[in-house]
Amino acid sequence: MKKTVLITGVAGMIGSRMAEWIVSNQKDYQVVGIDNLSGGYIENVPEGILFIQADVATENLDQIFQEHQIYYVLHFAAYAAEGLSPFIRKFNYTNNLVATANIVNACIKYQVKRLVFTSSMAVYGHSPAPFREIAVPQPADPYGVAKYACEMDIQIAGEQHGLDWCILRPHNVYGQNQNIWDKYRNVLGIWMYQHINQQAFSIFGDGSQKRAFSYLEDCLEPLWNATVLPAASKQIINIGSDTEISVLTAAQTLKEVIGADAQIQFLEQRHEVQNAYSTHEKAIAILGYKDSTSLKEGLTAMWEWAKKQPKRKRMEWDAYEIDNGMYESWKK
Ligand SMILES: NC(=O)c1ccc[n+]([C@@H]2O[C@H](COP(=O)([O-])OP(=O)(O)OC[C@H]3O[C@@H](n4cnc5c(N)ncnc54)[C@H](O)[C@@H]3O)[C@@H](O)[C@H]2O)c1
Repeated sequence: MKKTVLITGVAGMIGSRMAEWIVSNQKDYQVVGIDNLSGGYIENVPEGILFIQADVATENLDQIFQEHQIYYVLHFAAYAAEGLSPFIRKFNYTNNLVATANIVNACIKYQVKRLVFTSSMAVYGHSPAPFREIAVPQPADPYGVAKYACEMDIQIAGEQHGLDWCILRPHNVYGQNQNIWDKYRNVLGIWMYQHINQQAFSIFGDGSQKRAFSYLEDCLEPLWNATVLPAASKQIINIGSDTEISVLTAAQTLKEVIGADAQIQFLEQRHEVQNAYSTHEKAIAILGYKDSTSLKEGLTAMWEWAKKQPKRKRMEWDAYEIDNGMYESWKK
């Protein structure tokens, strides 16, 4: 009998591609996927899985866990709009932290063999880059706080209730199935949306802030290894590219890929960490991560995909929880 892997956020970028990867590569496993379609699209959900439309923050998960005898959980569902999180605090904590508590409860109750959680590099916040896993997190925004709280909660569940877990801290992941329509997150996707809609690429500040952009396809097998390998048990692991570049250089790289004279519009400086990139010794040693795809190669593949996407309406919030200090370009 096949073992069942539950993926939350299965209509999102990482969840949908991970589900597809498992269906293609792991014949002893089947996938049940949950998503409330708040930030992902039904068209992303791959063939060959059971899809359940549900909200992991509010749903009573008993029936799903009981009926499908969930073996592993890959918990990806979240709203990862880090820069917007100070303006939607309450939503951020409900959707990211309370939702994770709901998942942790179910994992404990139904004796799931391992919970894999995608935390974020956002937990490091103002720590000096490059970030190592041993650094004490100092998140700089509510999104990072929520992710750090989830991490701590999962570890406590491990200590008190014997839940096995692996916590990954991915960073700036991009690729096919990314939400390029959301105005507040995924900078490479935002630029693609802007170019398709005859707008200039927008950059907050002068573009000197550094990030390391990680191609999703390089992360899929390591994510599976985080799920099944004994060595990944109760480990916190940074995952993603080693190559840090400035946001301005990333914009220039995308301009080369698109082959067009895209304009760049510089916006006001926003509250964000200047340099955010990590070291990856653990991902390489434990998960077999390889930084195989250059930004140019990854962007070329993503752009080919982006050009073929339907014209979707831009995702914008109707109202924020607070407007105080809101950036000009996000004002209502
Ligand atoms: N993409 C990155 O650069 C990156 C970096 C670090 C961490 N992460 C984390 O990885 C995970 C996946 O990220 P992604 O880039 O695939 O994002 P994504 O937005 O593409 O996917 C997240 C999915 O979760 C769903 N979702 C959100 N709230 C939900 C809820 N309450 N109930 C059910 N479904 C819900 C959304 O509809 C969406 O389909 C997230 O936890 C994110 O915080 C992503």
